[in-house]
Amino acid sequence: DIRQEVEKLIARMSIADKIGQMSQIGASDFSFGADVDAEPPERMVATGKAGSILGAFDSKRVFELQKIAVEQSPLRIPLLFNADVIHGFQTIFPVPLAWSCSWDLEAIKQACAISAKEASASGTTYNHGPMVDITRDPRWGRVVEGAGEDPYLGALIAKAQVEGFQGESLFDRETIIACLKHFIAYGAAEGGRDYNTVDISEGTLRNVYLPPFKAGIEAGAGSVMNAFNTYQGVPVAGNGYLLKDLLRDELGFDGMLISDYGAIEEIFIHGAAKNGEDASKQAMDATMDIEMVTRLYAEHLPRLIEQGIVKEEQLDDAVRRILTYKYKIGIMDDPFRYVQPEKEMEYHFSPAHLEASRDLARKSIVLLKNDGILPLRDEGKKIALIGPFAASKDLLGPWQFSRYGIETVSLKEGITGRGLDQQRLFVASGCGVNEELVGGLDHAVACASQADIVILALGEDSNMSGEAASRTDISLPNVQQRLAEEIVKLGKPTVLVLTNGRPLVLDWFEQNVDAIVETWFLGSQAGHAIADVLFGDYNPSGKLTMSFPRHAGQVPIYYNAFNTGRPVTAANMQTKYISKYLDCSNDPLYPFGYGLSYAAFDYTELRLDKTALTRTDALTASVTVTNTGNYAGEETVQLYIQDLYGSVVRPVKELKGFRKICLEPGESRTVSFRVTEEDLKFYAPDRSLRAEAGAFRLFVGSNARDVQEAAFELV
Ligand code: IFM
Repeated sequence: DIRQEVEKLIARMSIADKIGQMSQIGASDFSFGADVDAEPPERMVATGKAGSILGAFDSKRVFELQKIAVEQSPLRIPLLFNADVIHGFQTIFPVPLAWSCSWDLEAIKQACAISAKEASASGTTYNHGPMVDITRDPRWGRVVEGAGEDPYLGALIAKAQVEGFQGESLFDRETIIACLKHFIAYGAAEGGRDYNTVDISEGTLRNVYLPPFKAGIEAGAGSVMNAFNTYQGVPVAGNGYLLKDLLRDELGFDGMLISDYGAIEEIFIHGAAKNGEDASKQAMDATMDIEMVTRLYAEHLPRLIEQGIVKEEQLDDAVRRILTYKYKIGIMDDPFRYVQPEKEMEYHFSPAHLEASRDLARKSIVLLKNDGILPLRDEGKKIALIGPFAASKDLLGPWQFSRYGIETVSLKEGITGRGLDQQRLFVASGCGVNEELVGGLDHAVACASQADIVILALGEDSNMSGEAASRTDISLPNVQQRLAEEIVKLGKPTVLVLTNGRPLVLDWFEQNVDAIVETWFLGSQAGHAIADVLFGDYNPSGKLTMSFPRHAGQVPIYYNAFNTGRPVTAANMQTKYISKYLDCSNDPLYPFGYGLSYAAFDYTELRLDKTALTRTDALTASVTVTNTGNYAGEETVQLYIQDLYGSVVRPVKELKGFRKICLEPGESRTVSFRVTEEDLKFYAPDRSLRAEAGAFRLFVGSNARDVQEAAFELV
């Protein structure tokens, strides 16, 4: 029995052994910025100063370090091996913001399962993912790692990811421990600036930022990582209310709590601790089990324990949680069971994994505009492929460490793969992502002039989103805007294909190009997936999970906002004292849930089977959707609810359900949603989760803006 084994082992451990288990070290000089002045990893492992290793990316390195642990360290305890497996290991999938736009929970789960299979073959046992932060501010670079602005969808995707990474049992050699990060409210950093202050209400914390964590914990995630920010003035890494009271006691999380890189030291830098010792005590009191890479625990815990300021039982609790997982995944009996070089050969970048990546990539693409030019038909037309992403392989996005980057399929390769030869495809980059190229603009204009259709491949490079990659200007870089303006002047039908890691301001493009295809960073098979959509082999079905603003001055902008006391309406738009901008509408350019198809979907009137719902029954809302277009296509039918009044104000709409349906041309399907009291619950100011009786509105439609509505009451 694992429990007994763990206790027996703890009884044999010295304070130093215990602190060793609680210390994560880097596999090499792999560093994210914090100053770490440590001995070489080999020596640290041999002397029992490490319980887990960050960033040993292949089975050879894992084997070397594990061998030292089990042959030389004082208690011979095997190591855990951690890595950031965010959207793939060697086969790279679309970035999480992209895959969230598929709204395809099964495909996301499968992508995580494949990532786990590839990573575990190389010895990785413990993931630093999924990232489940709700993101409302596209200036923040880390929006690319999450599932967007909605807590309901975010919770479902968090669950799917945990299930994908962890499989049925963590003992299975093809799984890795999932770590929900970053607990909590990291996405609310002021001004979208990474690591910045967070100052939000408890209601927003619980109703917006908490649901994905709660869902991930319920799905059995083995670990949670703290956020770098403060909450009510206390850095999360040392925040007893959040980590102990909320995470452990209220949500029942009993897995490993790991500090983000440098976060314990930052309690002091934030100004909430006197020194490193005080910071260590706060983190221990908040039940932080593992310190990632920095060495404060090692430096300060021995004295803190000697003086009784930190109790040895606290150490034991942390070590118990860590050792329990070491037993659960089977390394205590078989330390090398995840070192599988033959499986690395078989799984990494395998044809089946690449096919799954291509499939999810196609599902992640969002068609933002189409005046009919797409899909492109092969009618002998000449195509100019223009822009810094025309032939670029920078399509994997941030947070990937694949050895196969060079094999990423570029857009040019995707298009030429369909038989377009040089007589019909002219390619020019025109400019770099952020810089001019000598003669680049003229060459691009000359190329485009010869063509019948222009595909403009523009965007952000992979360093422009992810950690420490915030932007104030979320439009395309000036050089690319200039290129686009010159190309558009030619008056050719123009399709914009975007590669990027956040919602961008696209107002000018909406007005000046014929079609806009949002592809994000689609991963190893990006070029094929984009070509599949451009040429109509795949009908796009992605729906946005973050609103696209018209102007950067609107952010943060999200659909599930409060009404305010002076909401803007069609009738009062021209009056002064209402909540609006003088120079821009309040509405986003493309709302949450939005995305076009080559098919066209018509919704019949919304029907409710009752208008008074009791706490014990259910109401059913139905619409019939018809494909009135010429292509078979997939539609994501969305259900939203508004709680019209209560003890605290509630959002103007909240997603509460969705169904993905596939319709042939002319086909109709009735879609029904069941609504119960459960769907109406929210955290009230007294922290209770409850539904309040009263009036509600229910909306069904194809995005958060284009909906039909009906009214009902909870009685
Ligand atoms: O996992 C990440 C985290 O999201 C941000 N800081 C660095 C960590 C490295 O693993």
